[in-house]
Order: sequence, then C-alpha cells, then structure tokens
Amino acid sequence: MTGRLPACVIDNGTGYTKLGYAGNNEPHFIIPSAIAVRERPGGSRIGQSGEDLDFFIGDEAFNAKGYSVKYPIRHGIVEDWDLMEKYWEHCLFKYLRCDPEDHHFLLTEPPLNTPENREYTAEIMFELFNVPGLYIALQATLALYASWIASDVKNMLTGLVVDSGDGVTHVVPVADGYLIGSSIKHIPISGRDITYFVQSLLREREPNIPPEQSLETAKAIKERYCYVCPDIAKEFSKYDEDPRKNYLQYTGINSVTKKPFNVDVGHERFLGPEIFFNPEFSNPEYNTSLSKLIDDIIQDCPVDVRRKLYSNIVLSGGSTMFKGFEKRLKRDVQRLVDGRLRESEELSKHKPEPIDVKVVAHAMQRYAVWFGGSLAASTPNFYEVCHTRQEYEEKGPSICRYNAVFNLV
Ligand SMILES: Nc1ncnc2c1ncn2[C@@H]1O[C@H](COP(=O)(O)OP(=O)(O)OP(=O)(O)O)[C@@H](O)[C@H]1O
Ligand SMILES: [Mg+2]
Repeated sequence: MTGRLPACVIDNGTGYTKLGYAGNNEPHFIIPSAIAVRERPGGSRIGQSGEDLDFFIGDEAFNAKGYSVKYPIRHGIVEDWDLMEKYWEHCLFKYLRCDPEDHHFLLTEPPLNTPENREYTAEIMFELFNVPGLYIALQATLALYASWIASDVKNMLTGLVVDSGDGVTHVVPVADGYLIGSSIKHIPISGRDITYFVQSLLREREPNIPPEQSLETAKAIKERYCYVCPDIAKEFSKYDEDPRKNYLQYTGINSVTKKPFNVDVGHERFLGPEIFFNPEFSNPEYNTSLSKLIDDIIQDCPVDVRRKLYSNIVLSGGSTMFKGFEKRLKRDVQRLVDGRLRESEELSKHKPEPIDVKVVAHAMQRYAVWFGGSLAASTPNFYEVCHTRQEYEEKGPSICRYNAVFNLV
C-alpha cells in the first residue's frame, strides 16, 4: 500500500534495546534495557494516574538520583510486564516519537518464549498503544535473514544461528525457515558473564579501579581490548616474552574525583572470551564448550540437514564481536567433525565425504536481529502475516500465540 508509514522494529534484549524503523540499516537508538523507577520507603512503586511519567529508561536510568534501576528482561525473556509496558511507552513516545496508531510493529522474541508472553505483548500493543498491526518474530530467523545481505550465502533458510548477547547465548538450528525446536539449546555464558569474569581478573591485580566503577570498567575493557586467541598456552608465553607489546593501558575517569585512573590490561584480553571455549574457567559447574554444543546440536538434527547446518553457522549479537571469534569457532567445530569422520572411516573402512564447516560473520552482525527485522518488515509479505487490530478485537489476544512464517524470498 502506498503512503503507509514504515513499520517500527524493536528488538528488546536483556542488555540493550534496539529501536528504529523498517528499511534502515541500523537502529535509530540502542539503549540499555534498564528502567529507573522511584521507590516508596516501603518499597512499592509510585505510579498510576498522572505519575506515570515518573521514570527513566536507557542511559538516563543510570543517572536518575533517588530511583532504583531495574531490568524487565532476564535471559532474553520479559519478567516484569508492568515495567516492560512503561519501558515501551518511553521507547515510542520519547525516543521514536511516533504515533503508534500509524505504524505496524515488529517485535522480537527469543526461542522458547511462552505463548502467554506473546499474549501479554499483544495486549499491551493493541490495547494500550492501539497499534494497527503486530508481528512477533523469532530472533534466530531474523538473524538468518540478516546474514544474507552481507555474506555470499543467499536466501538460505537453513542455518545454525549462534546469537550471543548480554544475557543469553542461544544456538538455534533452522531448517527451511522453521526452528528445529527439539534441538535448541542455550549456554550459561554471555556478555555479562564475560564482563564479570574480566572484572574478577582485574580485581585481583588492579587496585586503582574505584570499586563502584569496577563493572563498567571491566565492560569497557572487554568491548575495546578483548579477543579470542587460537591457543591460550601459546598466548601466555607471547605475553611473557614481550609484555610491553601485549599489555595495554586503559584510562578511566573517577566519577567522584573526576581524576583519571589507569589500568594495565593483560591476560584478561584473551582470557575473558575464552570462557566460550573453556567455560569451566568461570563456572566450575559447566564445562561444555560452545563448539562442542554446536556439534552436539547439529548431530541431534535430522541427518538430511546436518551438512547444510555445518556449512552455514551464522553469528549474531554483541558478544560474537570479539576479534578471532569466528576463526576459532570454525576451527574447533571443524576439528570435532573431522575427528568423528576419521573414527567412522576406521570402523567402516570407507572414506566418508568431507564436511566443510563455515562460520558466517558479516557487517550487520552486531545488530543482526534488528537488521533482519528491518528487512522483514519492509517486505509486502510482512503486512500479510501481521495480526491486525481488527482481528485482535474480534478474536482476542490468543491470535498472537502463533505468528505465521515469513516469506522473504
Ligand atoms: N565490540 C564488542 N566486543 C565484545 N562484546 C561486545 C562488543 N560490543 C558489545 N558487546 C557486548 O555485547 C552485549 C550486548 O549484545 P546484544 O545487544 O546483542 O545483547 P542483548 O540483545 O541486549 O541481549 P540478549 O540477546 O542476550 O537478550 C553486551 O554484553 C556488550 O558488552
Ligand atoms: Mg539479543
């Protein structure tokens, strides 16, 4: 339809919310998924009529004195719907500054989100914001679309998505656009865990860091200086041989004294993200590496899609941005695959056909889910698969339990 305003695309993550309009390459806003609310001395929230504006979201939430900061989303799933409603209110009216009655909406959800959560989302969107149309898309499928644009893999609806954000890392196999639901897994390692790990390594060595700034310092160091190395033993000796070359310095500003403080950044540069590959470094109860998990998941999938999944492992999310991540993942998964092929050759005395592991990194990877949503919501098919307000009014929120698969090709 001509003259229609672009759809709003919102990817609410555990750490960051990505907001913008369909058809763009990047979200207009990337703001922390944090909300600051005023607390009564007894702990209950002031709210309701007239006082609903008494809260802040995003970066502003951290600067609000006398408020307490909360995160409505945990491990990718909305946990506090009252806060989520308020959060969306500011997203629409303060950030996007749109009239939601004029735009269709594409929101995202993690795998294994509950049907009830889709209903809550629909109630808020249709009843509070009066949106004309709503589609709730799977983050993994959107990440797969996003990979088409910037890589040479075109229109491939079969792939294994590794989406690693702030609060969760999902490994999701998709075959012909459908999730292979029984094989989805997540690992208890994501951006926040790496930040905590870097923080603990620095705490032991760097007394200069003001304690109340230790988390933000660790996060900044992680994002700026950390990388994935091919072999930690060799990396340690490299640092020992030439510390000057490998140690870096980070300068922060003390938020109270406003004076700069310096931090030497050493082994944590490669040890931080190493917990993807050796998770027991930070969590003694968990020792399955990301590469092993990927291999296990593909082996769990129907035999006719396995080869395609190995050849299209697609990266998505902020915590896949470490330098060297793609290369290490490819090598480690390839090693596991080759090892199994060798074993089967020994047993059967037949040489099996080699399997090529390919890990797809691309320019839109940081915001792949949002970008995939932007692509999807700019196709004519989007308006056909959206649930409409009229349909909602006739049949109720349960219509949003199910969202039709997209035809993007
Ligand atoms: N260049 C970078 N290198 C490493 N990590 C980064 C980089 N940029 C951002 N991150 C990390 O990525 C995480 C945020 O990623 P993302 O926005 O994909 O997560 P999210 O969608 O909020 O969370 P989730 O998908 O887990 O619900 C944060 O932990 C952040 O520190
Ligand atoms: Mg995310």
